[in-house]
This record gives sequence, C-alpha cells and structure tokens, in this order.
Amino acid sequence: MTLPQPGLEAQRFSDLLVSRMREEIAAAGGWISFARFMEAALYTPGLGYYSGGAHKFGAAGDFVTAPELTPLFARTLAVQTREIMLLSAPQIIEVGAGSGKLAADMLRELELSQSLPDRYCILELSGELRERQRATLAERAPHLLPRVDWLDRLPERFSGLVLANELLDAMPVHLVRWGGEVDPGAVFEVSERGVGWSDGALVWHDRPAQGRLLEYAAQIAEECPLPAGYLSEINLAAMEWTASWAGILDQGALLLIDYGFPRHEFYHPQRSSGTLMCHYRHLAHAEPFFLPGLQDVTAHVDFTAIVEAAHEAGMDYLGYTSQANFLLNCGLTDILARIPADDTVSYLSQAQAVQKLISPSEMGDLFKVMSLGKGIEAELCGFSRGDRGATL
Ligand SMILES: C[S@@+](CC[C@H](N)C(=O)[O-])C[C@H]1O[C@@H](n2cnc3c(N)ncnc32)[C@H](O)[C@@H]1O
Repeated sequence: MTLPQPGLEAQRFSDLLVSRMREEIAAAGGWISFARFMEAALYTPGLGYYSGGAHKFGAAGDFVTAPELTPLFARTLAVQTREIMLLSAPQIIEVGAGSGKLAADMLRELELSQSLPDRYCILELSGELRERQRATLAERAPHLLPRVDWLDRLPERFSGLVLANELLDAMPVHLVRWGGEVDPGAVFEVSERGVGWSDGALVWHDRPAQGRLLEYAAQIAEECPLPAGYLSEINLAAMEWTASWAGILDQGALLLIDYGFPRHEFYHPQRSSGTLMCHYRHLAHAEPFFLPGLQDVTAHVDFTAIVEAAHEAGMDYLGYTSQANFLLNCGLTDILARIPADDTVSYLSQAQAVQKLISPSEMGDLFKVMSLGKGIEAELCGFSRGDRGATL
C-alpha cells in the first residue's frame, strides 16, 4: 500500500522521535520491547502521536471514534451513567477523553435530565489533548466547565463511574511469538518481538520472553491451540490499569468500551499475525515503523484478560455485551426519535451515524462494552438483554 507523505514539518518531528528511539535502543544494549516502542511513538511529550500536534480524530484526522461520529452516543451512554451514579455516587472520571466531545455531550444530556455529577474529572496523558478538551468544553458547554477537573494521576479513592472509550486499545502492548525459530539453530518456545536499530532504520528483533510475559504467554498457549510461529499481542498495561481500580473504588463501576474479543476469538488460530493496526489519514495498515509519532498504533482488546485481572484484584463482573446490544438496551432508538423527522437533514445524518454504531458490519459487533465494579448489586440497564458474559 502506498501511504500519503507528510509535510516537511511533520516529517521533521517524526525524524526527531526516531533519533530519540535510536539513542534509547543503543542505551538499552540494542533492544527495546515493542511496548516501549509503542509508548514512545504515542506518548513522548511533544513528539508522540497523542502528545504531539497530529490532528488525530475526525474527518480531518486519522480515524473516527463513536463520540466524534454523533452526540447520540454520549446521550445514550448518559442513561447508563445516570443509573451507575444513582447506585454509587454522583461523580465521573473519564480516562483518555480524546477531543472532549464525549464529556461535553454527556454533561449536556445529564443537565437536561437534572442528573449532573458533582464533578466530572478527566484523566488524560496527553497535554495537547487536555488543552483541546478544555477548548471543546468551553465551546460546547461553557456553563458546565466549572464542574470539570483534570487529574494528573489516578485518585487514591473514588466512588462513581469510571468511563473509558477506546482507551485500552491505545495502551502499549507486548508482541509475543509462540514456537518457531528465532536464530538459526536456536529454538525458543516463546519469544518476545522487540525493536532494534540496523542500517539506519528501526528493525524487528526477537529474544526469549521472560518473567510475567512468559508466564502469561504460557497460560494462553494452554487455553488456546496456537500454530507454531503464531504472533500476537499481550496487553499487560491494560490488565494492570484495570486491576489498579480494585484498590481505588469504594463503590462504583468501570464502563470500558473498545474493539476486541473474548480470549478464544482473540487468539484464534487463523488470526496468526495478531491484531496490531496503524491508522494514518483514514488508511489502516500494519507497519508500526512507518512515520512514528504521526500515525496511531493500536491493538484489539482481549476482554477475557481484562475480566480476569479485575476479578483477581477483587472487582465484580457487571456485564459484557456488544456495543449494539448495549446502546439499544440504553434506548438509542428512542433517543434518535427525539430528533424531529421533519428536520430531514439532521435526522438522516444522525440515523446514518446510528446505523454505523450498531450495524454488525461496522462498529456494532466488533466493539464491546464491559462493566466491572464494587458494591453494585443491581443489574445494569445496558446489559439487560443480550449479555455475552458466557463467551468470556
Ligand atoms: C484512541 S484515543 C480515544 C479518545 C476518546 N476516548 C474517543 O473515544 O474519541 C485514546 C485516548 O486515551 C488516552 N490515553 C491512553 N493511555 C492513557 C492512560 N494510561 N491514562 C490516561 N489517558 C490515556 C490518549 O491520550 C487518548 O486521549
């Protein structure tokens, strides 16, 4: 595939990031994990994809997320948000808030139903996106801005809703190869694919997997029949992040929305080169070394790993279903029907967006919603029909 070339300024930023990576690889003895590469490519201050100047979201960016597609996504999520706040406390933390659209549209919807949270906190790694979120809120919901705070780290204690749309897929993953030869004559059962530097370029470099990664890879191989040479991702960061909420939540729920599968589908024998994907100007490809810092790098989520990590840490499973089921259970079609049908232009464009959110061939089936929590006894409305927990 031929990918579009960046402008000179953007190319200069990417070159600078690559030269920092080269120095880091040299300082580390010639090898860094792919997770470290991905973290640097996405989050190096000023140069990483999320922390630098790339436009990222929407038609002018590289990909479109549900809150960017239509405000109806936030309005429908507000139904589940209200219920969780009633069952716990009127507070929200949104993690990885992107452009801030979900926050603005959600707050406006909660205001309409007189169920505003006392505080809407945003936890965002990227300084550039924090500024963008503030600007979006100032434009779309200026009178609600005083309720919004930006956090620098996870809180010590929290009750309420923790919301994250497309967060886990943006966490750095390790790459693992099961079976097969690494160097001629040296056969390792499990190798970790990392990044080195050779002939002026970033190169793949495998070495034996170790420690927790090796243990986890062995567990996967026991549960899923993998052909020799199978390459895929393990997202230790997402598991650790999820588990960390067990020590923070007094009462409340995490609502995690992302593309992914249960383990037996994630590590399906036919998915033999994993789910790693890059997005550059609405083109999806699998070349993470292409223009580091200018393109998104992402992997699907193994939701079984997330629920296991939460459970081991002491959180309850509250639900898992497709995005389509979840949004329909929360009343998406009624919310669409609030737009007057004689406002044809608006109605048709919103109906089209709804179709994208729920159609099985678009986001409806690939995207899942998972809830985990503490001290919530009631069944959550978003999972009332079509719960897929049995597949985890
Ligand atoms: C794919 S974007 C999704 C943005 C937004 N939620 C949306 O749906 O449009 C991922 C977001 O998560 C943020 N992020 C990634 N890891 C994070 C972490 N550990 N803590 C806070 N934010 C994080 C990124 O900076 C970015 O804003």
